Amino acid sequence: MIMVSKDKVHLLYNETDAEMSAARPSCYRKVSRFKKLGCIFIVVVAILLITPACLSGRLCWHEQSCYLPTVSVQESSMVCKKLKDGRPVKKFPEALIIGVRKAGTGAMRFYLDMHPYVEIASAEINFFDFEYENGYEWYKNQLPMALPGQLTMEKTSNYFHNKKTVDRIYNMSSNMKLIVVVREPVERTVSDYIQRKLKKSESDDIDYPPFENFVIDSDTGEVDASEKIIKPSIYQKHTVKWLKYFPLENLHFVDGGNLILNPYEEVKKVEQFLGIPHCLTKDKFVFSSTKGFYCIKKNKGRREETKCLPETKGRRHPAVDPEVMRKLKGFFKPYNEKFYRTIGRSFNW
Ligand code: A3P
Repeated sequence: MIMVSKDKVHLLYNETDAEMSAARPSCYRKVSRFKKLGCIFIVVVAILLITPACLSGRLCWHEQSCYLPTVSVQESSMVCKKLKDGRPVKKFPEALIIGVRKAGTGAMRFYLDMHPYVEIASAEINFFDFEYENGYEWYKNQLPMALPGQLTMEKTSNYFHNKKTVDRIYNMSSNMKLIVVVREPVERTVSDYIQRKLKKSESDDIDYPPFENFVIDSDTGEVDASEKIIKPSIYQKHTVKWLKYFPLENLHFVDGGNLILNPYEEVKKVEQFLGIPHCLTKDKFVFSSTKGFYCIKKNKGRREETKCLPETKGRRHPAVDPEVMRKLKGFFKPYNEKFYRTIGRSFNW
C-alpha cells in the first residue's frame, strides 16, 4: 500500500518535472555547478582571445564588427603605434576617396594620412579619369609603399562625377571601399567657383564672370543644370550610377559640414567603415582660431606640433545674391530628397 502510494508520488513528481522541463528552454535544464563554471571559463577565455585580435585588425572581416567607439585610450595607444614589421610593398588601393570635389576631400585625406594603418597617396593621381591609358603598373608606381596590415589608399575628387571612372574602378576591384564626402550643395558649388576663379586668374589675366552669371542661364533665368560647377553637386544622379556597380555597403558618405565642425566624429566613422583601429581619437584634433578650422597634433621626435591644411583649403566665400541663392536651394532640393532616399540617410540640407 505504502509502496504503491510512494510510486504514485514518484510518478506524479516525474510527470510534473517532465512537463516543466518541456516548457522551459533547453539551457534551463539542470546543470551541475561544475559545468556552469566550465561554461563561464570558456566564455571569459574566448573574450580574452578575440578582443586583442579584433583590435589589431585581424578579425575585422566586417566593417561594423570591431572598433566600435569603445576603444579606450590605453587600448588605442597599444594598437595605434606606428607599424614597423614586414617588408613595404606597392599594391593597388583597397579604398578610395572618390569625391566630391570641394566638399572636404583634402581634409579627409589629411586626417587619414596620420593613421598608422593607412598609406594614402599625397597628391591626386587622376588614374581612373585622365591617366587610365598609362596602365595598371603605372598606377601602382604612383601609389605609396605599404607594410603588411596597412591599407593603400588614394584620393581623386573628380572620380565621383566622372562618367568613365565607375566601370574602371569596378574592373580593378569589385570590393573597393568608396568614400564620398558630401557638403551642402550650394556651399560646395560656391567653393568650386572660387577654386576655378583663382586657378584661372593665376594663368590668365581675364575678368572672371561673377558667380551669379555662372550658375544662372541668361536665356531662361533659371539654374543652368549643365554648368560644370553645378553638376558635381547633384549627388543623387552620380550615386545612382555608382550603385549600378557597387552595393550600398561599399559606399560611405561623409558629412562634409560635420567634418568641418567635428572632424573626429566623421573620421571615426571612416575608421569603422575601413575596418581599421580607432586611432584618430578626439585628443589628436585641435581647433585653430587663426585658421578657423581643425588641425591635427603630430609628434615630431619628442616635440609635438600642430599641422593644418594649406591656405587653399578653407577660403572665404563671397556673398551670393539672395534671389540666386533661393533658386539654387530650390533647384537642389528635389535631388537632395531623392539622394536621402537612395542612401537611406538624411543630411538636412
Ligand atoms: P572652402 O575652401 O570652400 O571653405 P576639398 O578638399 O574637397 O577641395 O574641400 C575643401 C573644403 O574643405 C574647404 O572648402 C573647407 O570648407 C573644407 N574643410 C574641411 N575641413 C577642413 C579643415 N580642417 N581645414 C580646411 N578646410 C577644411
